Amino acid sequence: MTHIVLFGNEKGGSGKTTYAIHTIISLLNMGFKVASIDLDERQQSLSRYIENRQKTISQTGINFPLPEHFQISRNASAEHSSDYENMVLELIENLENYDYLVIDAPGSNTKISRFAHVYADTVITPINSSFIDIDLLGKVDANNLTMISTGIYSNMYIEERKKRQLLNKQTPDWIVVHSRYSLNETLNRRSVDFALRCIAKDLQFRTIKGFTDRTIFKDLFLQGLTLLDSELTKQIKITPSTIAARQEVRSFLYTLKLPMVIPIEW
Ligand SMILES: Nc1ncnc2c1ncn2[C@@H]1O[C@H](COP(=O)(O)OP(=O)(O)O)[C@@H](O)[C@H]1O
Ligand SMILES: [Mg+2]
Repeated sequence: MTHIVLFGNEKGGSGKTTYAIHTIISLLNMGFKVASIDLDERQQSLSRYIENRQKTISQTGINFPLPEHFQISRNASAEHSSDYENMVLELIENLENYDYLVIDAPGSNTKISRFAHVYADTVITPINSSFIDIDLLGKVDANNLTMISTGIYSNMYIEERKKRQLLNKQTPDWIVVHSRYSLNETLNRRSVDFALRCIAKDLQFRTIKGFTDRTIFKDLFLQGLTLLDSELTKQIKITPSTIAARQEVRSFLYTLKLPMVIPIEW
């Protein structure tokens, strides 16, 4: 069975594509067969990253591992047609050769994104360390940081999650990633952590720490590479920050607790 991992959040710029890229490359480096789908028809950042990686492969002759990547039609009118859903469903159902399918969802409430959320075994929602981002998960009381009501993204996902029962699918793992938090114990970081833990109990997700803010997480986009590509790391200067960043990616991967992923040195 292919395990489906979806990166979703209606907030643009929360890190969905960045985490999708690092997850895909980590899983490939671990020897898994990985497929990926870019459902962000407008931005297509994941597809652009894969294109850049393919160019780097042909320019350097180095066989950086690639996922089997699917880019869904760019035709905006397709969004409303059921053909579009069928296309994604057909893809999902014919994936028996892959261990993982990684889906990068758009930062908006589209029909196809809702549809994909139903099929995801693991839903990963990155949020920036800010109450503006938390608001899409749950409205928070300013006095005690507890949840007053659900936010728009949670409402959408909880609705879609219910549909899994009709399909006899296992309970999904919903993980909210506290991303780009400051390395120092600031009041903001503590408050965001606390509010997330309160909301997590109400909405039944778990929270984990993601990546801190580092240029290395965005520097290599044009080459389609990541700091996990060992052939590359032979060429770039390894700094304490690069080592720390790589460690952040490893810890992130392990705390996802994806099936078949065992913590070994890689
Ligand atoms: N940990 C990080 N450190 C530095 N920049 C980051 C980090 N995570 C994401 N970014 C940058 O933030 C912006 C938004 O990230 P992106 O992955 O495109 O979000 P989304 O897919 O949710 O819209 C991009 O410019 C990306 O390079
Ligand atoms: Mg994106």
